[in-house]
Amino acid sequence: MAKKPFSRRSFLKGAGGLAAGGAIGSAAQSAGPEAVSGPLRLSGEVEVELSINGAPRKLKVEPRSTLLDVLRTRLEPALTGTKLVCDQGACGACTVLMDGRARYACMTLALDAVGKEVRTVEGLAPAGLLSPVQQAFWEEDATMCGFCTPGFVMSITGCLEKNPAATEEEVRWACSGNLCRCGTYPHVFAAAAKAGRRMRGEER
Ligand code: FES
Ligand code: FES
Repeated sequence: MAKKPFSRRSFLKGAGGLAAGGAIGSAAQSAGPEAVSGPLRLSGEVEVELSINGAPRKLKVEPRSTLLDVLRTRLEPALTGTKLVCDQGACGACTVLMDGRARYACMTLALDAVGKEVRTVEGLAPAGLLSPVQQAFWEEDATMCGFCTPGFVMSITGCLEKNPAATEEEVRWACSGNLCRCGTYPHVFAAAAKAGRRMRGEER
């Protein structure tokens, strides 16, 4: 079997702290005139423009603010579909897509999202409708308490949008950074399989 790429979890184990530091330097430098030059010397707030669910959002953030914090507490209206659970890169409840790739929003600085397209669970389908993955989760009863659900939906969406013919092993790998304390895994993977069939046009 081909060697697997790093999962989000293995990446965080090895280099999460370093990555966060690097993100402060590079993103802040493009954040605008209020940013103090030089990495790791920022104070106060900087004005940024984020692209969230296809819409530009201008706001002021502290350099230390995480994307999760901004989504849940700084936007108006707040986007609380992205869940805060562990806040330390261990559970995946805060998973969003950034330029199509699953990211822990709790481990991503808001400044690191400048210039990227951020998608949250609220942006997967027009208001009142469900995306194929959301629809399949509902039909396959793939949720109990629901705290993990948005994170799984985002990880599976990222996987299937990249490859609607992803195998179950590939879907499981895409979800390797997501934990469900209620144990809904069989339903989650059944939902992913159904969504994949629909996205391939094999099922209505
Ligand atoms: S809240 Fe981000 S990984 Fe748990
Ligand atoms: S449904 Fe409760 S943690 Fe997954």
